[in-house]
This record gives sequence, structure tokens and C-alpha cells, in this order.
Amino acid sequence: MARVFVDGRAVEAAIAVRQAVQADGHEVEFVESVRELEGRLGGAAEVALVLTGPPGESRAAAMRGLFETEIPRPPVLGLTEETQPDARRQLARSFDLDEALALPVDPDEVRVVLQTHLDRYDLQRQTGIIGRTEAVREILERVHMIAPVMSTVLLTGESGTGKELVARAFHRLSPRRARAFIAVNCAALPESLLESELFGHEKGAFTGATSLRRGMFELADGGTLLLDEIAEMPLPTQTRLLRVLESRRFMRVGGDHEIQVSVRVVAATNRDLRQAVETGEFRRDLYYRLNVLNVHVPPLRDRRRDIPVLIRRFISEFSRQHDREFRGLAPEALQILLDYDWPGNVRELRNLIESMVVLAPGSVIRPEDIPPEIRSGGVSLVPSPAHIAPVVDAGAGSIPSSPQLAFVFRTLVD
Ligand SMILES: Nc1ncnc2c1ncn2[C@@H]1O[C@H](COP(=O)(O)OP(=O)(O)OP(=O)(O)O)[C@@H](O)[C@H]1O
Ligand SMILES: [Mg+2]
Repeated sequence: MARVFVDGRAVEAAIAVRQAVQADGHEVEFVESVRELEGRLGGAAEVALVLTGPPGESRAAAMRGLFETEIPRPPVLGLTEETQPDARRQLARSFDLDEALALPVDPDEVRVVLQTHLDRYDLQRQTGIIGRTEAVREILERVHMIAPVMSTVLLTGESGTGKELVARAFHRLSPRRARAFIAVNCAALPESLLESELFGHEKGAFTGATSLRRGMFELADGGTLLLDEIAEMPLPTQTRLLRVLESRRFMRVGGDHEIQVSVRVVAATNRDLRQAVETGEFRRDLYYRLNVLNVHVPPLRDRRRDIPVLIRRFISEFSRQHDREFRGLAPEALQILLDYDWPGNVRELRNLIESMVVLAPGSVIRPEDIPPEIRSGGVSLVPSPAHIAPVVDAGAGSIPSSPQLAFVFRTLVD
């Protein structure tokens, strides 16, 4: 059940929303101002937002303050007189809303849309997968759908895009969560060692095998095994893996009896596996076996709208960790980070934010705090005002006003 804060000033709409939302068992509270809302929440980190009509600068500032406290943040939905879907999307984007719905209130639409966003919020909190783009939403939805089953999953995507994070999400959202999650890097070991790493070995199986050793398949029994950099797995090991995937049985190296396990396998690669199949480096049958369910994590440069929320998340994480007071990013600095191409994807962004949090002399990251190679790189992209507004805290970047925006409510999950 969620606590839903509704702007009480647009009375008719507010009542319609309350009826719709209460029918789903949520608790509804009316609020009249940002301040009232803050007071009602007792200055807690989780705050609600209310907007009616065009926000003035002070309200915009309050809004920014509220937005900055929490990532992922609870859903914020708006109601508007605007009837064109495209225009509503634009409106939602410029006010940094999750969605803007059309007036008059359609109770079923409100319920469905609210539930969708609440579910997504919950998933983001559980998995730590942050993002505002359709690409991230799709990943979350697929994880949600596929996590409970046993099927093997293939995760593809460039280095640093978040494949391991997604693999962990599969584990966390599955009935296996209480058991082990184990990651094996298939590129890190030569063939013989990799086999014994995965399947274990009996005492005396080879020179140096002085005692019995259980492999990762055994240790991950009941849980999840991530086979990272699967494209680098030697062909003989691929053959053994295929058999294990088909029967969930295997023998330890040097062993003479089969061991049965229940392991959910997630394989990840930053290479094009199909191409590896064509060149004979990867077994075709194993590829088909792994590729039953594929989740692709796109590069950061193809989902730049995720950059601002990721930045905020990392700033808050690292300023806490390094005990530094950080207020945010100057708009020009954000612009540079939006324009950059991020060949190292989210990992590169995360590392950069950590170093800037440690090294920047002030409490706001300025363009001159960004390393020159990033300042000069990248293409130019025109961001929408919403890209800037919630991130900056250097006095600039006000939220644009909109006469159409009648009503906004924000929800909180207990
Ligand atoms: N959507 C996201 N939200 C929050 N953090 C993210 C997100 N995507 C990636 N990260 C963070 O970025 C870093 C790199 O992610 P991860 O290790 O999962 O990438 P990877 O795809 O496995 O990379 P590689 O191919 O190099 O192994 C991690 O610290 C991860 O927590
Ligand atoms: Mg990885």
C-alpha cells in the first residue's frame, strides 16, 4: 500500500483521484503546498510534491530541493488540460514528472498508471537499477517478468553498462534470493583451472589437487551463477557447460559420479556472440541454449536522459561515503557530461563522479573540475530543461512555467 499525496486545490480532480486511488487500497492525503507537505512528512527524506498551475521561482526551488533527496524517487504524476499525448509527454519531461495525465480524471487510467509507476519505483529500490529512459524501464520489466523462473538468461551490452547489476537483480527478485549469488569471470582463467573452478575437482584429480574442492556450480546450488565474459570460455568447457545446462548434472574433475544441482545460470558478454558463433569461437548449440531469454543493456550514449539521475545518485552516494557536503552540479558542467560519449558507460561516469566529489574544491561541481579529456570529447546534444533543473543547485536553471499544468500529485510508498 502506498501513501498518495494529492494536490487538494483542484478540488474536483482531487476527489476523483482520491476515489480511484482508494479503491486500490492506497491511503490518500490532500495537501495545499510544498511546505505543508514537507511539514506533514516531518522533514523525512521521503517528501511529496504538489504543484498547481505555473510554478514560481520559489516553488521551483522547493521542488528541486525535494527532488534531490531521493534516488530513485517516488513517482510524480501530473494532471493537465493538455489533450495531445505528445504535448503531455513534453510537459512531463519539462517538469520532470513520471507522466502527465489528461483531465478530466479517468479513474481507471489513474489507477493503472499509478500502479505501473509504483511497481517500477519498487523495482528500482530493490535492484538499484537507476534510470529514467524507456530502455531502463524495459530492462526492469523484463527482470521482473523473468526473475521468478529458472530459465537461463543471456545479458549483452558494452563494458560498464550494468550487466552485473542486472544479473544481481535477477537473483534478488527470484525465490532464490536467500541462497548464493556467485560470479565467475570466464576470461580470467585458463581452461583447466576454469573447469575445476566451475565443476570442482576430486582429491588427486591432477598434480596439486591435494584435497577435494567444490566448484561454483555446487556452491551456487539453490542460487544463481553468473558466467561473466562467456564469449571467452574455451570450447571444451563450453561443451561441458552445455551438458550441465541440459541436465543440471555434472561430475567434478577426476570424479566418477554425477552431482545434481539446481542453479539458475545468467551469462553475460560484451561481445557479439552471434559473430563468435560464425567465426567458430563459440558453439552454436550453446548459443541457442543461452539465448533463450536475452536482455540487452544499451550503452549510456544511447540513453543520455539517464545521465542526470545517475549523477545525482552517485553524488549522494560518494558525498556520504567521503563525508563531503555536496550540493550538485553547475548547469555547464552537466552539459559537458551530457555531451560526452561515455565509452566506459556507467562505470566511467561513476568513477568520474567519485573523483570529482573527492577533488572538487567547492560544494558544486564546475566545468573546470571536469578532466580536460572529457571536457573536449563528445558530441553536442540539446538537453531539455528537465535535464538541468533537478540537478543544478547553483542558483540557475529554473523550471519552466506552464499554464496547462493544472495539478500534480506525488506518491510515497511506506
Ligand atoms: N542503471 C544503473 N543504476 C545504478 N548504477 C549502475 C547502473 N548501471 C551500472 N551501474 C553501476 O556501474 C558500475 C558498472 O556496472 P557493472 O559492473 O554491472 O557493468 P558490466 O556491464 O558488468 O561491466 P563489464 O562488462 O565491464 O563487466 C557498477 O558500479 C554498477 O553498480
Ligand atoms: Mg561485469
